[in-house]
Amino acid sequence: MFHIVNTDVFDRVLLDDLCRLTTVIRTVAKSDDGARFLKDLLPTRRAMLYFTQPSTRTFLSMNNACHVLGIRSSEIRDPEVSSEVKGETFEDSIRTFSSYVDVIVMRTPEAGYAARAAALMDSIPRPVPIINAGSGKDQHPTQALLDVYTLERSFESTGGIDGKTIGMMGDLKRGRTVRSLARLMRHYRDVRLVFIAPEAFEMEPDVKAFLDEHGIVYTETRRLHETLPELDAVYVTRMQSEHDVDDESSGVNLAPFTIGPLELTMMRDDACVLHPLPRGSEIHPDVDADPRAMYWRQERNGMWMRAALFASVFGVAQEIMDAAPRFA
Ligand code: CP
Repeated sequence: MFHIVNTDVFDRVLLDDLCRLTTVIRTVAKSDDGARFLKDLLPTRRAMLYFTQPSTRTFLSMNNACHVLGIRSSEIRDPEVSSEVKGETFEDSIRTFSSYVDVIVMRTPEAGYAARAAALMDSIPRPVPIINAGSGKDQHPTQALLDVYTLERSFESTGGIDGKTIGMMGDLKRGRTVRSLARLMRHYRDVRLVFIAPEAFEMEPDVKAFLDEHGIVYTETRRLHETLPELDAVYVTRMQSEHDVDDESSGVNLAPFTIGPLELTMMRDDACVLHPLPRGSEIHPDVDADPRAMYWRQERNGMWMRAALFASVFGVAQEIMDAAPRFA
């Protein structure tokens, strides 16, 4: 694993390893001794967080994942304060970042820029890994990792993700989290996906073709209430109105694609509700107190999973696994 531009770099062995490492880091960090051990692992490493699209949890969880492992971080969150305003190209900017740091984590409003950055790195003498923290409407691979981790933990007593029926709901057309998560499902046995979306925001054909190619069963519906009783998990997403070109969002009613107290009564007791957050009105705040609501844990899991990812990228995963019994 070097660049993490899309979900193609992960296979089942790596996903299981990352989930185990995430749990170990979470557990080790609980004690002061453990937290100090983790912080002493990578004090000479530096990370660049280059986020030119708004972010709260991906930015903060990446930054704090760095802190967990002692990695120092620097950031640009606004191209207006970088030399791009003087006309510096994207490629020259990325190459400049790479002169100072050991990994570049980047989020862009457009698709394809993380891939461009990775291709540039592969062509220079001192390449550093590129981690895609969200690329337009296309991919959000590290979000998919924390989603897999949250699902695995939610299904711990029922055999994990294998064999589960997972609903994905909302603006699936422009939701990069569901696009990445759906692709990762190829690594789990007998998973069935149910896409619940208004016609205008159905899952895109490229993802459906991928699922067909890999033999992943999926169905599509607009009837949430009929579908809820059969789901092991429902992954809710918001309207991605930041991608509107011609005010498309205003013409679509997402009200039938929401989870509130009524919908909770239709769900199984052992089912769970996920959301990448931030949310709009698609999950009523009253759902937060229900034990099936996993989204607040999911966002915290993001920090631990991203720490596991940095530990793997910088080659200290085994050291953490070996030391873990000392902090049990
Ligand atoms: N889930 C997610 O990507 O959240 P942010 O946009 O706040 O980073």
